[in-house]
Amino acid sequence: MATYLQLPLARAIITGGASGIGESTARLFVRYGANVVIADIQDDLGKSVCKDVDPTCQIISYIRCDVTKEADIENLVNSTIEKYGKLDIMYNNAGIAGESSMSAADTNFEDFKSVIDVNVLGSFLGAKHAARVMIPSKKGCILFTSSVASIIAGETSNAYTTSKHAIVGLTKNLCVELGQYGIRVNCISPFALATPLLIDAVNTEPSIVEAAVCKSAVLKGTLITVEDIAEAAVYLSSDESKYVSGLNLVVDGGYTTTNPTLSMYL
Ligand SMILES: NC(=O)c1ccc[n+]([C@@H]2O[C@H](COP(=O)([O-])OP(=O)(O)OC[C@H]3O[C@@H](n4cnc5c(N)ncnc54)[C@H](O)[C@@H]3O)[C@@H](O)[C@H]2O)c1
Repeated sequence: MATYLQLPLARAIITGGASGIGESTARLFVRYGANVVIADIQDDLGKSVCKDVDPTCQIISYIRCDVTKEADIENLVNSTIEKYGKLDIMYNNAGIAGESSMSAADTNFEDFKSVIDVNVLGSFLGAKHAARVMIPSKKGCILFTSSVASIIAGETSNAYTTSKHAIVGLTKNLCVELGQYGIRVNCISPFALATPLLIDAVNTEPSIVEAAVCKSAVLKGTLITVEDIAEAAVYLSSDESKYVSGLNLVVDGGYTTTNPTLSMYL
């Protein structure tokens, strides 16, 4: 943990904060001094993370919020303002993988729609309601979780790749619109992590996913963890990145810089 970074008294919402990247970021934000609201649809998990961090649920608390429902997002933002008086950081991280089929012809209409609904519409709604309360403060930080699927194609489903490209477009568009109000907008694009999202999508053991990640990684001798993404989120939320906006911060050990296929066959 870098000691110079701080989020003193920052008030943050993290969607998808009950598990994986969101959970790790919630824990790290609290360690750096922030108050955190975890928003998720996994009530028991979300509440247990909060109790584990702060049994009084003062520093960190849970609100049920389905990000695809605007009324839930509106309630989430309003409740956070009621509890903490302000919203400094909105991390729109909730996401789903959807079906793993790579075939356009076999893609199920409802599955495609649900991936776009959660990953894109849900993220947008979070940004929309965050902007509503951040604009009068003339300050704020909006973050999204995109993916290496925003850069490389052919490794995830059409719906997932589309959704993660869309997040980069949304990041840039909001960066331009909200810059005039002092609001910074950035996204983070992680490489593969053995979280429930990926484990369920590939239907295998975390150790098998991690072994595959190690083998395919460009950067050797280390393994990407959810804490690496949490540290990136802390950086993008802190004053250390006060002039960084519109960035897709790729945390992939250089994976997307190369395509080894030709040299493998040669
Ligand atoms: N795991 C990876 O390899 C990987 C890589 C790149 C990007 N990502 C992205 O990271 C983000 C977090 O995923 P993760 O890997 O931590 O997976 P995860 O499954 O551990 O966490 C995702 C969380 O989102 C929540 N969620 C799902 N639908 C929701 C909804 N409608 N409303 C509110 N919450 C909802 C889930 O309940 C869960 O707690 C996602 O946007 C994902 O696309 C993951």
